[in-house]
Amino acid sequence: MSKISIQPTNDFCPQTLFLYGTYDDQGKADFGLFCWFSYIWDGELGVMACIGGNKLTKENIHKRKVFSANLVTEALLPLADYLGNIPGHSPEKMKRSIETEMGRVLPVPILTASPVAFELEVKQFIPLQDGEVMLCAIRNVLQDESLAKNEGSSSEKLNAIAPVHTTCRHYYSWDGKDLGAWGEPMSKVGG
Ligand SMILES: Cc1cc2nc3c(=O)[nH]c(=O)nc-3n(C[C@H](O)[C@H](O)[C@H](O)COP(=O)(O)O)c2cc1C
Repeated sequence: MSKISIQPTNDFCPQTLFLYGTYDDQGKADFGLFCWFSYIWDGELGVMACIGGNKLTKENIHKRKVFSANLVTEALLPLADYLGNIPGHSPEKMKRSIETEMGRVLPVPILTASPVAFELEVKQFIPLQDGEVMLCAIRNVLQDESLAKNEGSSSEKLNAIAPVHTTCRHYYSWDGKDLGAWGEPMSKVGG
């Protein structure tokens, strides 16, 4: 393969999307959309997450040191795109009805419609110039019963939940179809 050098970019390197759930000082839930999320090993499986700039999610995590990470599926995409494009500091953002429940182990809001959710506790903050990396312990994983059951193949289960990928500032379905540019699916979000 003949390659050319270009400026730093992660185009053509698909990422999984998560909605991070936090509570503010009044106990109100906030969700934001994030893709700079991966895994670490330190005697047990953990998570690393990077948040750039200032946002409500970051402020809430700093105060409580806990958050949830909820897997984004095709069914959730319009809402996820909305939650990734409207800042939490806008009073309108969380006025729409979103079904949530409390974490089973940590006081974090869980998105009921997501089939996989992590309950995360930050063990280490690594501040950067304009961002912050957080190393987290996984205190609990909530998985839809249909995934946790010992029935059906992983491939069948992944096709059923259809996680969304993102790269090149577009969203892609589990089977590779273009689901629109960032900022487009939110036009289909319901009340
Ligand atoms: C597809 C997509 C992925 C995003 N991933 C990240 C990310 O990994 N880190 C980050 O700091 N912001 C990311 N954002 C921006 C946040 O979702 C956005 O700032 C949002 O308003 C955060 O929610 P909050 O303001 O309620 O905290 C992403 C946005 C989109 C549309």
